[in-house]
Amino acid sequence: MAKEFLLTVLLALALCQMATAGDPDILTDFIVPANLTTPMIDGNFFTYTGMRVLVDAKPPTNFTVLKASMAEFPALNGQSVSYAVLQYPAGSTNPPHIHPRASELLFLVEGSLEVGFVDTTNKLFTQTLQVGDMFIFPKGLVHYQFNNATSTPAFAISAFGSASAGTVSIPVTLFGTRIDSVILAKAFKTDVATIERLRAAFPPPKA
Ligand SMILES: *[C@@H]1O[C@H](CO)[C@@H](O)[C@H](O)[C@H]1NC(C)=O
Ligand SMILES: *[C@@H]1O[C@H](CO)[C@@H](O)[C@H](O)[C@H]1NC(C)=O
Ligand SMILES: *[C@@H]1O[C@H](CO)[C@@H](O)[C@H](O)[C@H]1NC(C)=O
Repeated sequence: MAKEFLLTVLLALALCQMATAGDPDILTDFIVPANLTTPMIDGNFFTYTGMRVLVDAKPPTNFTVLKASMAEFPALNGQSVSYAVLQYPAGSTNPPHIHPRASELLFLVEGSLEVGFVDTTNKLFTQTLQVGDMFIFPKGLVHYQFNNATSTPAFAISAFGSASAGTVSIPVTLFGTRIDSVILAKAFKTDVATIERLRAAFPPPKA
């Protein structure tokens, strides 16, 4: 009897976890930030104007991400969605990274992109995207984009299934933090000098 009860509880917990695989559901229509009150909320609260800077702007000279996540656009809190606008000058890359809290649906609007992700069996999936194509990067997997053109920039818009997808950049996480060089040298089956050279390009965050 006790064993069956335990199994039932475990099963219920597992199902609950599956149901909350995205952002948690909220019990109100939207979340009013702590520094606002409901009467202060109007259409402006639900409007994000931070992308207007893109209109008539000169294309950037390096890879650039403009985010509209909960941090920039507080009305997204509790709505389980966010956006990023990605601009890739010719030859630039969005280095391998992970979004721990969301899958990413990329829509290529301009140029072309080499994209890829690696699944948990270490299988690499790649594709060459052309304008109008969409590509899905599954949640939590290492992925990248690369504009392999010699002169044409690429422009993409990504939607995320979380208001706060989070980004873990693999190079920065490994070489831009204070993980001991001996540990990294062992992990990458190389010597400390090689690790120090890799580190030089990623100054650690200020303590
Ligand atoms: C509320 O806080 C947000 C984020 O800190 C800020 O951007 C916004 O201007 C604040 N609004 C008011 C009315 O103080
Ligand atoms: C990217 O280019 C902008 C100017 O176009 C510059 O301000 C910025 O520092 C550059 N970022 C990197 C990481 O090189
Ligand atoms: C980039 O383009 C060159 C020339 O077409 C090709 O040889 C190379 O494999 C491409 N790189 C990637 C990552 O697709």
